[in-house]
Amino acid sequence: MHQDPVVRMQGVSKVISSRYLVRDLTLDILPGQVFGFLGPNGAGKTTTIRMMVGLMSISEGDIHIAGHSVKHEFEDAIREVGAIVENPEMYKFLTGYQNLLHFARMSPGVTKERIQEAIELVGLTQRIHDKVKNYSLGMRQRLGVAQAILHRPKLLVLDEPTNGLDPQGIRELRDYLRKLCEEEGTTVFVSSHLLSEMELMCDTVAVIQNGKLIDVSSVRAEGTLATTEYAFEVSDVDMAHTLAGGEGRVEQGVLYIPGTRDEAAALNVLLVQNGVKVYGIRARKSSLEDQFLALTGGESIE
Ligand SMILES: Nc1ncnc2c1ncn2[C@@H]1O[C@H](COP(=O)(O)OP(=O)(O)OP(=O)(O)O)[C@@H](O)[C@H]1O
Ligand SMILES: [Mg+2]
Repeated sequence: MHQDPVVRMQGVSKVISSRYLVRDLTLDILPGQVFGFLGPNGAGKTTTIRMMVGLMSISEGDIHIAGHSVKHEFEDAIREVGAIVENPEMYKFLTGYQNLLHFARMSPGVTKERIQEAIELVGLTQRIHDKVKNYSLGMRQRLGVAQAILHRPKLLVLDEPTNGLDPQGIRELRDYLRKLCEEEGTTVFVSSHLLSEMELMCDTVAVIQNGKLIDVSSVRAEGTLATTEYAFEVSDVDMAHTLAGGEGRVEQGVLYIPGTRDEAAALNVLLVQNGVKVYGIRARKSSLEDQFLALTGGESIE
């Protein structure tokens, strides 16, 4: 089934004082997923996000959101977006609920039922009638997300949403973003400099470094990590390698094959049927970090 991308970046660059902060980004983001934008400090994540939401002009290229050009049809494009980029404006002396009511008045068609839905989705029901000044950072963020999704945007953009959250808070964020994605079909775009978080949170991750896109990879495929590798200890490693169609690699007498659980099981059957003894199969997650390090020649992202 062909799906139109929610975000299409074509040759997007940002140039300030003849320096490229972001260079030639071309990227399609398909709907209904949590999409990660991963890169070290200064890579150009915030700059890209600011261009997406119209806080900064696009120097070269264009970004389309749900088919609308940010450059030429800004109003139509931004209508499809909910975002927290800078600190969201909240009235500290009002309650969370009063803040949402206030924002709802500015968006046509947002009903009280919708406000309630948004509050429940971010898990703020218990504390919504407290004053915002008494909220923790995590609660403020939930309120910010509730506000950003009131008008049911197709795209939710969050710049480094895990910053400052404790592990429990990060987990809850992950859960409600997933819920938003599944229940409302919202595409979520999150940036981070932390690989481990991106792996847990996202379906697809794009890696940006020095303003350039260096990789886009799918984190999950068929419900398993796409990058899982299986180590086979066998009686005849060369024959096993041949039976595996030459895939993978042999290291110190062990055959390493990338693939899914089912593919590993199928290879096991094939080996046994061909007289190769299988002494052991181990799954090893080849993480995005390994891939990242391989891509950048060992320069760590953290
Ligand atoms: N308005 C500006 N004028 C000049 N340079 C800028 C401006 N905004 C950002 N930069 C530079 O652009 C580069 C990318 O910055 P950006 O904030 O997009 O990175 P980032 O990936 O969001 O980093 P971080 O993880 O630290 O938030 C940096 O070198 C930064 O100093
Ligand atoms: Mg940033």
